[in-house]
Amino acid sequence: MDPKTRWDSVFSEGKDFTTFNDIFIDRLLLPKLDKKPNPVLLDIGCGTGDVLKKMLARGYAAFGVDASSVAVEAARRRTGLSDTEVVSGDIEQGILMRFRGESFDLIIIKLVIAFVSDKQKMLESAKELLSPTGKVLIITPLVYDNIEYSNPRTKNIAVNEKEFSPLLASVFKHIEMIHQDFLDDNGVLGYYLCS
Ligand SMILES: C[S@@+](CC[C@H](N)C(=O)[O-])C[C@H]1O[C@@H](n2cnc3c(N)ncnc32)[C@H](O)[C@@H]1O
Repeated sequence: MDPKTRWDSVFSEGKDFTTFNDIFIDRLLLPKLDKKPNPVLLDIGCGTGDVLKKMLARGYAAFGVDASSVAVEAARRRTGLSDTEVVSGDIEQGILMRFRGESFDLIIIKLVIAFVSDKQKMLESAKELLSPTGKVLIITPLVYDNIEYSNPRTKNIAVNEKEFSPLLASVFKHIEMIHQDFLDDNGVLGYYLCS
């Protein structure tokens, strides 16, 4: 099933995902970023726009992209951003090219990477859109080989830590796990800041 069909049906049922925690943003994320006037954010797989809204409130100019046009409409309504700022398209089919020439201070990829087939290619494309001091924040559920997960759903929404760490290292020079949330069923939500 193509991502638009899959995710339109999820969002048509009114689904939303975990919120982008304000205390995480203010205490852990922002102090790690270059302080500059008029910073610009790209949220890849922006869903219904929670991240966009929170970063707009912190003075960021914000752009988002998502496969689901249902989510994109909701994100525009929620943030007041325009149809050139929040766009719908498949990140595995070249939609990120649309942002070529932009220079993002922060790119957020929250709860998305597990659903991308060619993760390396997508991360390389994101890296090319960064400003010289820009950073990519990847938030993803992680699973570990040596743990038996009783909930089969955990593996479907997560990446395997053993494979993901070397993949990140092949794309980025600096990788820091700046936070982890411990999930039910032994999973971890990892917050990687990369540049
Ligand atoms: C679990 S949701 C997370 C949404 C949002 N980042 C959040 O944290 O609330 C996964 C999102 O990734 C988007 N997505 C998945 N595959 C995609 C693709 N190939 N191209 C663009 N967006 C995609 C979905 O449409 C969906 O909005």
